[in-house]
Amino acid sequence: MREDGESAAGQGLVVKVCLGLSCGQSGGRDILAAVSKGLGLKPGEAQADGCVMLKEGFCFGRCAIGPNAKVGPELISGIDPGDVSRVLKQVGMSA
Ligand code: FES
Repeated sequence: MREDGESAAGQGLVVKVCLGLSCGQSGGRDILAAVSKGLGLKPGEAQADGCVMLKEGFCFGRCAIGPNAKVGPELISGIDPGDVSRVLKQVGMSA
């Protein structure tokens, strides 16, 4: 299954961490946990002002360059599960 990691129209920035088979086997859950901690959001939650929402993703069709996340339409590939700073920076937060 493939999905696009778009920003939802009319909503804030959607951050999706891929938990598809390939990304999941290469640290997707650790990445999600670290991004969750960094944003202070659990998957499915949004900031009180609605600016950022965290979601689980399930394959963006870019498995070969994973593990992957999307911040709005921006694909972030080859994420080190121990360093999600590139994801957080894309959201405008420091790691
Ligand atoms: S499993 Fe993550 S992009 Fe395919």
